[in-house]
Amino acid sequence: MSDDTLDGVTGGSDPSAPGPLALRSSATRLSRLPIATEELFAGLPDRRIHALERRHGNGELVRVLEALDIAGPFRRVSPWELEDASGRHLIHAGGYAALPFGEGAPSMVDAAVRYLTAMNRPAFAQQAVSDWRAALETNLVALLASVAPSHAGSQVLFSNSGTEAIEIAMKLLRAARPKAPWILAFSKGYHGKTLGALSITANDEYQRPFRPLVPGIKVLPYGDAEALETALLTLGADQVAGVVLEPVQGEGGVIVPPEGFLADVERLRVEHDLLVVADEIQTGLGRTGHWFASVAGGLDPDVVTLAKPLSGGRVPVGATIARETLVRTMLPGFSSRRHSSTFAGNGLAMAVGLHALERLVEGGYDVRAQEDGARGLQRLTALADEVPGLIANVRGAGMLFALQLRHVLKPGLLGGRPELARLLASGLGLRTFHLGGVHACVSLAATGVVRLTPALDMPPALQDELWTRVEKIGHAHRQAWRMGASAGPAKLVRLANIATRGAPDETRRSDEG
Ligand SMILES: Cc1ncc(COP(=O)(O)O)c(C=O)c1O
Repeated sequence: MSDDTLDGVTGGSDPSAPGPLALRSSATRLSRLPIATEELFAGLPDRRIHALERRHGNGELVRVLEALDIAGPFRRVSPWELEDASGRHLIHAGGYAALPFGEGAPSMVDAAVRYLTAMNRPAFAQQAVSDWRAALETNLVALLASVAPSHAGSQVLFSNSGTEAIEIAMKLLRAARPKAPWILAFSKGYHGKTLGALSITANDEYQRPFRPLVPGIKVLPYGDAEALETALLTLGADQVAGVVLEPVQGEGGVIVPPEGFLADVERLRVEHDLLVVADEIQTGLGRTGHWFASVAGGLDPDVVTLAKPLSGGRVPVGATIARETLVRTMLPGFSSRRHSSTFAGNGLAMAVGLHALERLVEGGYDVRAQEDGARGLQRLTALADEVPGLIANVRGAGMLFALQLRHVLKPGLLGGRPELARLLASGLGLRTFHLGGVHACVSLAATGVVRLTPALDMPPALQDELWTRVEKIGHAHRQAWRMGASAGPAKLVRLANIATRGAPDETRRSDEG
């Protein structure tokens, strides 16, 4: 393919050439954009998609995925199956817990289309009531109150992502306890990457370039209720605006807290009048075998955040459910304008969210996730016993699974930076699973971990095939280093170069030439 066909990639200094630079030229009025939607419906060539993404998207991430042979683009075969560019069949266990009904589930598509074609109300109802928003507010509160009755009068603030749902939760805490400077969070937690959520996501890699972050954050060891109690006593409970926790740490690599931790937090919540936010963005709405993992663990949180599966993964949506007094305190009277967002609560997101919630509840997917999850964990545990040189341990909570791999690469590699070696190991793990026909996820807050988050409605035969494929992958790589070795030295060098400083120069040249 010649450069000429890479419209929108080549650009250059010629003001008449199509591409982003032309937009900046006052002499040229752009009459045609580089890419027409019709071309997309007809299908852009794979090579062009890669080139465009490298040039105008997160190019470095694309280079990493390309070096791992997992960059796609993928074709959807069914909601639970994908095919890569080489025609390899993949069972979809990626999706980061956001796809309870898989990719492009027909009923989710129908819900969106039906709403868009049938509704004659404004989609953005900031200055008016909205039937669809009212319905989702009501149904979410009803679901939470069905297991946590103290929430019967709670209120819902919508947003467009998980991290925004967390921002709202943090604002609720600050507004409720204006004299309390501290917000407590936990090690290895993951709450998102906007500045507020990032401040409580104790991860140096993500935080370092963006400091100073929101002040007054104290990080405690996850699962340690004694540490929480000590912090409340030493800081003074009246100095603590609240605590934010995940009932199971998803991005931390499916870390289930010790038995009794959540019940202990509940005791401290009551004893110290502590405000507790349960971040259920990954765990909520059935994934862990419960509608709300925090409540199942014995906690009655004051605030619950939801996102990922709330719209079946189809439309961005986040929700922060909070006790009425908290919302009233933050948004009183005319100050109710203090918090808003253009797209929050828009009709399409509400309609798709309503449909997803309806399907989840009516299909009893909390119980199904418990049963299917137990079967999956049993298979993975048996595999870990068979291949101890590959898998250090497996962890599961409902249909959230993590395999902690042993050293795929020697920790002494990469300039003796073991964290980098383990990060690269996660990528190589993902690649190995891909080559074995399993589309998996990494962990955003753990290294050396491969996670599996299959759809909650994956048919039993396909679930069985998923575990069979994972077993085959395990038996073919009985020692973790085989995952690295099978990539071959050239690929390892390329990956190591990207890991230590970014893409090697010759990769950049060939991307653009
Ligand atoms: C527990 C938890 N909180 C917050 C977030 C951030 O959500 P989003 O990526 O939609 O901003 C995530 C995403 O993985 C998450 O797992």
